[in-house]
Amino acid sequence: MLGVNYAFAVNSGTTAFYIILSVLKKLSDKREVILPAYTAPSLLLPIKKAGLEYRLVDVSLDTFNMDTEKLAEVISDNTLAVLFIHMFGIPVEMEKSKNIKGVFRIEDAASSFGTRRGKQFTGTFCDIGFVSFNRGKNLSTVSGGVIVTDNLQFADAVKRRMADLSRPSPFARVKIFLKALGLSLAVRPWFYSIFRHIVSGFKYTSLHEDFDSYHYTKFQGSLGCLLQERSETIFLDREAKGNLLYNGLKNIKGIRLPCLPDDWRIVFNQFPFLVEDAKKRMKVLDAIIKAGVEATMLYDKPIHKIYDEPHKDYPNAEYMADRLILIPVHHYVTERSLYKLLEAIETEIKK
Ligand SMILES: Cc1ncc(COP(=O)(O)O)c(C=O)c1O
Repeated sequence: MLGVNYAFAVNSGTTAFYIILSVLKKLSDKREVILPAYTAPSLLLPIKKAGLEYRLVDVSLDTFNMDTEKLAEVISDNTLAVLFIHMFGIPVEMEKSKNIKGVFRIEDAASSFGTRRGKQFTGTFCDIGFVSFNRGKNLSTVSGGVIVTDNLQFADAVKRRMADLSRPSPFARVKIFLKALGLSLAVRPWFYSIFRHIVSGFKYTSLHEDFDSYHYTKFQGSLGCLLQERSETIFLDREAKGNLLYNGLKNIKGIRLPCLPDDWRIVFNQFPFLVEDAKKRMKVLDAIIKAGVEATMLYDKPIHKIYDEPHKDYPNAEYMADRLILIPVHHYVTERSLYKLLEAIETEIKK
């Protein structure tokens, strides 16, 4: 699907990133990995587990992604790799960093499966990349991740590293199967509205402290193949709902939207916007939920506030963490409910 020469499936995007780091670490003495200051905090786990250190770059309030103009200030003699993350499905600018010598470029397309420029999908623009099939991702097989690259040297090293991974136990495989059943029920609106409180108990609420690494299962591979047949429909639907929200929100004063590059097709994982007056965020969020859509705030703190780096200053990441709202754009969110929530947002923000 991605048109790459080599692809390796594992149990999660986190494991995929960890394996990539373990492989790159052996090819260089450098020890730092750069990533944006507002992103999935779980990305620090594989960095630490691989024995590496992280450096942050502020995000841009224009793109909602890493501010690549600021990369040069952070890259040092000790930079092993830069992690380009396409947050929310929106492509991060990668071109300008192409000529940085001696630094590996890794691409995190966990939240952007389907986003593409022409025929080239995110995940395939840098030296090596990965996607995630975790729940909530554009294509989900309960969990899973794939490492992709066109580079034979990296592919060989990943293959060798993968030989150390164990297969999930029979118990773990049964658990995956049951989770798949549970998940397929939980996302159906009728089920969710009746069993809302039970389903909410299964949502991720705390920070992960570690992760297991093992192979992907055949059962999940089969689910993935079924999804692949429907992928274009899924992508189009997410793209259309994102565009509907963009057009509905762009003229509302007090709302800030990301600038979307027009030569890309953007498959939103969730649609992001900022409520400029941070005091209004909770009210806007409540209004959306009352309109029937489960919007969220994602990570309520930037990385440097979660992992105690108090002397560092990333103002845009903090600004975003205080104001961000994400609207789901998956299959079960109807267009009607999106129009309803747009009205609710406008009414609430004008108060
Ligand atoms: C941007 C990003 N990268 C990586 C990951 C990790 O993927 P996984 O959940 O499959 O381990 C996530 C998970 O939410 C993510 O949002």
